[in-house]
Order: sequence, then structure tokens, then C-alpha cells
Amino acid sequence: MENGHEVVVLRLGHRPGRDNRMTTHVGLTARALGADRVVIAGEAADAKATIDEVTERFGGPFTVEVTDGHRRLLREWPGEIAHLTMYGLPIQDVESALQAGHAEGPLLVVVGAEKVPFDVYEHADHNVAVTNQPHSEVAGLAVLLDRLFGGRELDREWEDATHRIVPTATGKQVEPVDPEA
Ligand SMILES: C[S@@+](CC[C@H](N)C(=O)[O-])C[C@H]1O[C@@H](n2cnc3c(N)ncnc32)[C@H](O)[C@@H]1O
Repeated sequence: MENGHEVVVLRLGHRPGRDNRMTTHVGLTARALGADRVVIAGEAADAKATIDEVTERFGGPFTVEVTDGHRRLLREWPGEIAHLTMYGLPIQDVESALQAGHAEGPLLVVVGAEKVPFDVYEHADHNVAVTNQPHSEVAGLAVLLDRLFGGRELDREWEDATHRIVPTATGKQVEPVDPEA
């Protein structure tokens, strides 16, 4: 998000076909709630295309990368790493540490699909649980980002959108953005 160090979401364990929708939602949630970039490990061209289309229409900045080099990303990441897992420490106990780490440098937030290799648990600075109950990487990511940014992400400004949604109490209103305005 603007005025801060980069926040990148790393999506591990993507299974083409089976996880397309969930991986797309990880990317859309990362974008909507203030992350700067999502990196998807594996073959995820469909998810990337959908997330890119949303960014072109509703704005950014936000980028999507697909990689087979996620181990290197983890190894060489220049800031702290938070791994979302139901086995971790409660987010309410670590959110201050997450904020402090992000005040000093970029933050990598790792989410899984199927079983996450144990070396990711060992490599992470924070193994973070959003409750110690099993649920979804999309839900976990949303809560983490909101706690990280303290709600400021909800008022984010979007750049280079072609369209914007006009909030209405009832109905659906979408209007083109005038680039001259
Ligand atoms: C369907 S779960 C997979 C759980 C899997 N049994 C495991 O060993 O990690 C997919 C992802 O959702 C996220 N997740 C699920 N429950 C969570 C929780 N309570 N707190 C934080 N993240 C969670 C984790 O990132 C996990 O890798």
C-alpha cells in the first residue's frame, strides 16, 4: 500500500484446475486489502489472467507473478516472513510484532493450499493463526492484512482504473473513470 514498505503474498501449493478459484481469490483479496503483489508458485496462468483483468478495470497498483522459484524468494526475502497456519500463534498476540517488522522493511505473507512443507514453518519469522481452527487461506489473509494495516486499507485510493463502483444502498452502479478528472 502507498506510504509503506512492500507487502507481498506468496501462494504455495497451487494445484491447477482444483485450486484456480481459491488462488484467484487469494490474489483478489491481497489486492483489495492493501498488498502490493501476489506471487503464485506453480502453473496459475488462469488465476493470473483474472486478477490482472480486475486490476486493469478497477485499478492498482498491483502485480501478479507466477514462479517456480519460490524457494529462492523465501531464502532471499529482505524482510520478515509471516506464514498463515492454524498451528501458529494467535494473530492477536503477534499483530504488534508484524506491524513493527513491517515498519522496518517489506513483509512476505505465505499462504498454503494443500500441506505446506515444514521448512516454511522453520523459515518464517512468524507462524500466525487466525484462530487455531481450520478454515481458509482467503479468510486468514483478509484478517492478517486488516490487522497489519489497522483498517487503513479500507480507504485505499486506486490508480489507473477504467471503472469504479459507486457505493449504493441498493442496486449496482458502475461508472467509467474520466482520466481527465
Ligand atoms: C485448507 S488449509 C490447509 C491446511 C493443511 N491441513 C495444513 O497442514 O496446512 C490452506 C491454508 O489455509 C490457511 N489457513 C487455514 N486455516 C487457518 C487458520 N486458522 N489460521 C491461519 N491460516 C489458516 C493456511 O495458510 C493453509 O496453508
